[in-house]
Amino acid sequence: MPSKAKCQFIVRKAELSDLPVLVNFQTRLALHVAGDPINRLKEEERERLMIVLRSLLSSKDKRIVVAQAPNGDLLGMGYVHIFKDQGIWEQAGEVKLKSAIIDDVWVEPDFRRLGVFTAMLRELVTFAEKHKAYELILEYATANKEAAATWTSLGFVPTGVRASAFTEVVQEKLGKRR
Ligand SMILES: CC(C)(COP(=O)(O)OP(=O)(O)OC[C@H]1O[C@@H](n2cnc3c(N)ncnc32)[C@H](O)[C@@H]1OP(=O)(O)O)[C@@H](O)C(=O)NCCC(=O)NCCS
Repeated sequence: MPSKAKCQFIVRKAELSDLPVLVNFQTRLALHVAGDPINRLKEEERERLMIVLRSLLSSKDKRIVVAQAPNGDLLGMGYVHIFKDQGIWEQAGEVKLKSAIIDDVWVEPDFRRLGVFTAMLRELVTFAEKHKAYELILEYATANKEAAATWTSLGFVPTGVRASAFTEVVQEKLGKRR
């Protein structure tokens, strides 16, 4: 594994020719989040992802960035899209609130802790600000310790909790209440 000083890469906007690698990154990210290393992606899902990603590449308020090594290998990806929220309050008038949603973040295991994601985030934040979105939003699983450490170190603080329960657990609790 290269040292931080020796790890060379550029960060650029993703292109059509990157699509197969991006699908590979997304598949491995899904397996990583699910904690399940043995599943293989269905062919129809691979095709669907290719179509979705292709449409993202040409959208003005969406940006996929990749980090690329000097030999051409892609080391990681990150995605941001601008979310416009029409103001719902009388007093706010026609003001549209804009946030930037970050998703699909992946860095190849051998190149982690080398600043690759930090460099990609710089591009994503710049893109958000260019679109006048001054708030960045993302979700991560609490069990994903490296993600939690990364987001915390980069200034993100949890603002909500997604909770889940089996219906039978909730039924049991309800059964104990009058
Ligand atoms: C999360 C992830 C994208 C971070 O990418 P990265 O290129 O390694 O991140 P960076 O090198 O830019 O690290 C930035 C900072 O985050 C923190 N950090 C990153 N990984 C960490 C880890 N495993 N443990 C503790 N801190 C960590 C550190 O403060 C680090 O700065 P430092 O190395 O100077 O101390 C990468 O670990 C990854 O791809 N994980 C699997 C996919 C994933 O979980 N994606 C996020 C889903 S929400």
